[in-house]
Amino acid sequence: MTTVLPGGTILAGKITVVTGGSTGIGRAIAQRFVAEGAYVFITGRRQPELDAAVDEIGSNVEGIRTDSADLGDLDALYRTIRQRKGRIDVLVANAGGGVAGPLAEVTEEVFDKTFGTNVKGVLFTVQKALPLLAEDASVILTGSTNSLRPGPDLGVYAATKAAVRNLARSWIIELGASGVRVNVLSPGPTKTPGLLGLAPAGQEQTLLDGLVAGVPLGRVADPAEIANAAVFLASDQSSFVNGIEFFVDGGQAQI
Ligand SMILES: NC(=O)c1ccc[n+]([C@@H]2O[C@H](COP(=O)([O-])OP(=O)(O)OC[C@H]3O[C@@H](n4cnc5c(N)ncnc54)[C@H](OP(=O)(O)O)[C@@H]3O)[C@@H](O)[C@H]2O)c1
Repeated sequence: MTTVLPGGTILAGKITVVTGGSTGIGRAIAQRFVAEGAYVFITGRRQPELDAAVDEIGSNVEGIRTDSADLGDLDALYRTIRQRKGRIDVLVANAGGGVAGPLAEVTEEVFDKTFGTNVKGVLFTVQKALPLLAEDASVILTGSTNSLRPGPDLGVYAATKAAVRNLARSWIIELGASGVRVNVLSPGPTKTPGLLGLAPAGQEQTLLDGLVAGVPLGRVADPAEIANAAVFLASDQSSFVNGIEFFVDGGQAQI
């Protein structure tokens, strides 16, 4: 069963940014934010995926091609947002990913790429947004159950998500007085192109079956279920929620 709540007005008037909003979890969050009345800027590196997401979401959405690991791209992104809307109410630093591989096979390229997007990218996505953040802005960092429970062969990826979780702890101390909240949203296994891409071709179902075994609810998530939690963290309904790691994982990391 997938829980897709009907649209509402809980994010009415909010200017939001979802990095990595062209596919998977980011796209579901962007779609849901628009359904709740927000205006959404989405980013990604591949223009066709970005265009397809904008077409599907339909209105109150703009795609801006951005590599989160590229500081010049981030500057251009925020220049555009400043010109177009002048502020950011909700920032979802979601762009990320990784590849599986045992310690013995980790290459410098894999390390740099994974940390480049998942840690450096998240840090500068937030740092460069600071001048635009509204007084009561909500910053949401996409983490992972791997921050607590690194799976086999996911050491590098898991380390990036542990770093993200700790950045949030640090940032709430720095930003609290300004009223800006920072929370980590940590999905369990969620059926997205990114997750399925971890499987060798043709072995996607085997990968999913293996993951389901570790989830008390006995299934993987639909991206819309992660988006439901993102709406809560983005909205004023979570106005005193700050610095948490919000697991949306069917119980995976809780046992
Ligand atoms: N799916 C899961 O089971 C799961 C579980 C826990 C956490 N997560 C986290 O959830 C987030 C989204 O993952 P997903 O499963 O939805 O993956 P996905 O389907 O592969 O989506 C990733 C999105 O991020 C974008 N992206 C990747 N690298 C980027 C970069 N350097 N700059 C800008 N955009 C970039 C991708 O577009 P381009 O490739 O075109 O740039 C795409 O829009 C990630 O942070 C991931 O670690 C996923």
